[in-house]
Amino acid sequence: MAVLTPLPDLAAYRRRAARHLPRMVMDYVEGAAGEERGLDRNRAAFARTLFVPRRLTDVSRREAGVTLWGRDYPLPLAIAPMGLTGVLRPEGDLMLARAAGQAGIPFCLSTASTSSIEEVARAGDGEKWFQLYVLHRDQARLFVRRALAAGYTTLILTVDVPVNGRRLRDRRSGFKVPFRLTPRIALDAALHPAWTMAQLRHGLPQLASFASAEAADASTQAALLNRQMDAGFDWAALAELRALWPHRLVLKGLTSAPELARAEAAGCDAVILSNHGARQLEDVAAPFDTLRSVQGRTALPLLLDSGIRSGEDVVKALAAGARMCLLGRAALYGLGARGEAGVREVIAMIAAEIDTTLALLGCPKARDLGPEHIQTEAPPATDRPDGLSTQPQRIRA
Ligand SMILES: Cc1cc2nc3c(=O)[nH]c(=O)nc-3n(C[C@H](O)[C@H](O)[C@H](O)COP(=O)(O)O)c2cc1C
Repeated sequence: MAVLTPLPDLAAYRRRAARHLPRMVMDYVEGAAGEERGLDRNRAAFARTLFVPRRLTDVSRREAGVTLWGRDYPLPLAIAPMGLTGVLRPEGDLMLARAAGQAGIPFCLSTASTSSIEEVARAGDGEKWFQLYVLHRDQARLFVRRALAAGYTTLILTVDVPVNGRRLRDRRSGFKVPFRLTPRIALDAALHPAWTMAQLRHGLPQLASFASAEAADASTQAALLNRQMDAGFDWAALAELRALWPHRLVLKGLTSAPELARAEAAGCDAVILSNHGARQLEDVAAPFDTLRSVQGRTALPLLLDSGIRSGEDVVKALAAGARMCLLGRAALYGLGARGEAGVREVIAMIAAEIDTTLALLGCPKARDLGPEHIQTEAPPATDRPDGLSTQPQRIRA
């Protein structure tokens, strides 16, 4: 097979994905809650943060690796759990898992996956994490047993989805499982024949981990998932889940400092600071801002997602105290653009950006990044007596 030249940047993967995918699917990927202010807030948190380079440091050899729970990883990255990836490419979960495994980074499978827990366990030999939504006890127990039996090493409990966020793009486009073929969706599909042919050849995506003899079609599976979501899940329910799962348990979706202490007391092994890529509550803190505000205040390893689009973002997150970053939409742009190869290319691109940033920052080892490597850009000065300055000039540490 011909080897394609990688595209120049993530924006190019995003554009390529937008060309391949029907508008409705791209909107599912890109969309956020409400007016989508949260997307800008997540990005602005990174943009406000500047590097503080250390010049004349030997950066001839660089290491992007990090250690988490005593294990060394070659990159400070994992793939975030994302539901319905088979809507982008048939077997999207398998592609993401294999690409992650090749790069030596963990892949986290969503509860709402389109390949089953067991199928993904067999995809490549990379480390697999399993993401659980807050589900009723019996269903949670069932999934936990399956994930254990299949060899998943880490359970990620997503705690920011007691109910679904207000996703206006999905409401407007009619995106939901199972797909209903409205005239608009049919036209959308007709305008993207390569996508449509692939979906028809493979069969439309199902919620594979919910599939059974009684739930053989996507609509029964979706109804089952909805019925099993437990908006009553609380810290007491977390204690029960903790007792069920013998390996690492991680909470995903915290954005406030006091909850970190509760997570630690509840026996969690890490927290993913995340606002679900702004898909749940629109006006909630950007996780990167939370990370900066809690630095040094918890012994729990902190992982981060929401708004990571480059290696520079990853380096800033590590400097602010994150142990690892999860790629969400960034990985899906690769998947949508070029399938498994696209995911591999996006991971390699972000790895190369991390490497360049470590060199330019004068910090050859990702492990040595710390708060001294970043500072906050001051807001533009508007109070100068000459009235000239609207540029960000004053810097506070
Ligand atoms: C299309 C899509 C589907 C997602 N599905 C899930 C999911 O099933 N479970 C989950 O915990 N998070 C889910 N997320 C949230 C991601 O795990 C992650 O928190 C988010 O994408 C990070 O933000 P970013 O995409 O801006 O980097 C989803 C995100 C996207 C974009």
